[in-house]
Amino acid sequence: MEKYGVNQLREMFLSFFETKGHLRLPSFSLIPQNDASLLLINSGMAPMKPYFKGEQEPPRHRVCTCQKCIRTGDIENIGKTARHGTYFEMLGNFSFGDYFKHEAIAWSWEFLTSPEWVGLEADRLYPSVYESDDEAWNIWHDEIGIPAEKIFRFGKEDNFWEHGSGPCGPCSEIYYDRGEKYGCGKPTCGVGCDCDRFMEVWNNVFTQFESDGHHNYTELKQKNIDTGMGLERLAVVVQNVDTVFDIDTMKAIRDKICEIAGVEYETDADKDVSIRLITDHIRSVTFMTSDGIIPSNEGRGYVLRRLLRRAARHGRLLGIEGLFLAKLAKTVIDESKDGYPELAEKEEYILKVITTEEEKFNKTIDQGLAILADMEDELVKSGSKTLSGENVFKLYDTYGFPVDLTTEILEEKGFSVDEEGFKKAMEVQKQTARNA
Ligand code: SER
Repeated sequence: MEKYGVNQLREMFLSFFETKGHLRLPSFSLIPQNDASLLLINSGMAPMKPYFKGEQEPPRHRVCTCQKCIRTGDIENIGKTARHGTYFEMLGNFSFGDYFKHEAIAWSWEFLTSPEWVGLEADRLYPSVYESDDEAWNIWHDEIGIPAEKIFRFGKEDNFWEHGSGPCGPCSEIYYDRGEKYGCGKPTCGVGCDCDRFMEVWNNVFTQFESDGHHNYTELKQKNIDTGMGLERLAVVVQNVDTVFDIDTMKAIRDKICEIAGVEYETDADKDVSIRLITDHIRSVTFMTSDGIIPSNEGRGYVLRRLLRRAARHGRLLGIEGLFLAKLAKTVIDESKDGYPELAEKEEYILKVITTEEEKFNKTIDQGLAILADMEDELVKSGSKTLSGENVFKLYDTYGFPVDLTTEILEEKGFSVDEEGFKKAMEVQKQTARNA
């Protein structure tokens, strides 16, 4: 197998599906359009819900994309583990009432195993199907030729894809066995285990239901296909590296951070957490900014502000003193502009927005961190474990510390914050402002 780069893999996927009659569309914006159920686009299918439901005519009934996605559900784990990230790219081929299970399964297998395409070793791949989906099982067994003992049946938790409300359905995933060295060693370790050995690379969703978000399902007018493959995960497998932070495009950002901070990766566990966190967050920050999101105290803008300031603080932990985020954003742009020409077009704007926000925070970050350290000393002296709402508010209002950042810094040291008290302090300020 060749060690394709991330940009090559993206291009290979999209051109493969063009040969299967798909229309290649550019990634949709991270800002959902006419979809109040999502703050940010979190999967390839999300911007195409109206096509799945048959409410809107798609430009073609076969489409493929590489979609920018953000998921912040696991934000606490970022940097600490090898696989969590907020930003990722999802490759997908979609059928809107056109082909269904046979083609979707056959093409996923062809793309992954054919020597003309990715060329993964078929022996290392294990499909799974939804427990009662005999049709998908039979396709894997009879048409693709996978031995029965290598096809797994899993329940709703693993093999039924839904995200809140909207189009959903049973799915069939493909796992890649990365070898024993990545295993947890437990006797139960096998396909579906949570450890790093069996990595899910592809998800074929047979989108045939509409969920109301409360486990009530109705049949859609048409049967659809929604596939998703995390580009970074595919690259981990293809490039045979340990984590997503080691693939070519991510390593370039990681190296730049090390260069700016004058540190070396994998010499200090705490520093590695900061390096990985910044590597991930700067990607989200760059792409969110390119889509027109501006740092603010609400909604998407708050997510952006939180990620940016979090990255800035971890820069401090690495010993970086001046502004550095725009330099990293430039690396993100250089690494990804092949797939996202908007990055190059808006480069100047992106760097300016990031620098302005970082400058704002930089003016107060050191003072804020010093004040927070004093507050921690006070807590220790008084034997309290919780920072008062007024103090959290002071850090927010005067020093620009997003509440989550204060919470996180304190949690690292075993303290918590009085969230209710903070909300009250916030209300009081709003009321005062209104009265004025
Ligand atoms: N919607 C599915 C996922 O996000 C497949 O694209 O995994």
